[in-house]
Amino acid sequence: MTKHISVMPKETLDLLDVKPDGIYVDGTLGRGGHSKLILEKLKTGKLYCFDLDLQAIEESKEILKDYTNVIYIHDNFMNMNKYVEKVDGVLLDLGVSSPQFDEAERGFSYNYDGPLDMRMNLEDRISAYDVVNKYEEKELERIFREYGEEKFSRLIARKIVEVRKEKPIDTTFALVDVIKSALPKKVLSKKGHPAKQCFQAIRIEVNHELDSLKKFLDSFDEILKVDGRVVIITFHSLEDKLVKYHFKKITSVEDDVRIACLPQDVKHADYELLNHGKKASNEELENNRRAKSAIVRGVRKVYGKVCKKKEKD
Ligand SMILES: C[S@@+](CC[C@H](N)C(=O)[O-])C[C@H]1O[C@@H](n2cnc3c(N)ncnc32)[C@H](O)[C@@H]1O
Repeated sequence: MTKHISVMPKETLDLLDVKPDGIYVDGTLGRGGHSKLILEKLKTGKLYCFDLDLQAIEESKEILKDYTNVIYIHDNFMNMNKYVEKVDGVLLDLGVSSPQFDEAERGFSYNYDGPLDMRMNLEDRISAYDVVNKYEEKELERIFREYGEEKFSRLIARKIVEVRKEKPIDTTFALVDVIKSALPKKVLSKKGHPAKQCFQAIRIEVNHELDSLKKFLDSFDEILKVDGRVVIITFHSLEDKLVKYHFKKITSVEDDVRIACLPQDVKHADYELLNHGKKASNEELENNRRAKSAIVRGVRKVYGKVCKKKEKD
């Protein structure tokens, strides 16, 4: 079994600043690495752990078996408001875990031959096979361009549609071959795997990764206590942009809603930025290459909703 090494453990826990009696949520349990660090700091507090992947939950239950104050929930973190009321902190460590990535059967990796799957939640209906073999050319092109930032999205989408007319593309290596055959020769000799961006794009589409993140960002305020913290680790620019701009928005004083508030309540933001985005140290990168693209950001809730927009006369 591949081990998952948790990214930026110290930085993440420092940002979360766990209170021993607090209620916390790990929205991306994985193999319980960050959860364990949170649990070590809790005394009377509780930890709710979410994962879309049942295997992640089962293995983490074993890893965290010494702790009785953990509640496991097999659901998307975007739904956490259904399960918890008021919490002191939420952690998201986005993306895929090493065991998911390194198990050929899960079909996430261009490095291992396996079925085209990529579902985090094996109960979901749509897999990478469906995306690659059933989506229209225009839709494939859009996904590769938007979610993979792939320059040759049109060429690759066209090639996929051409090849699948003959025979379904049903394995990761078959898809890699199709992608390679669509790319100009000079691109193939460049650094980095030629299928990396398309694989990322398909994975985002299959697991609705950006929609889940957006929904979480738009709703976490409902469950976060004053002084509570949200800490998010992202692994690519699409995720990081969403987090960065949302955090910027909630930590800035706007003059729309608050302008109608009482004067003493006007001049503050509801949240405080805890950092400006931190990357893993060189020392960490020596032991964990997965941390290379990681950025951790955090916010603290400073005030609850202090006022409502004044009714128009
Ligand atoms: C990078 S791993 C987390 C690793 C974990 N922090 C650790 O230290 O072991 C991400 C995990 O989050 C899960 N995941 C990703 N998106 C999710 C979502 N929207 N809702 C719930 N779980 C999700 C994945 O299945 C995966 O197990």
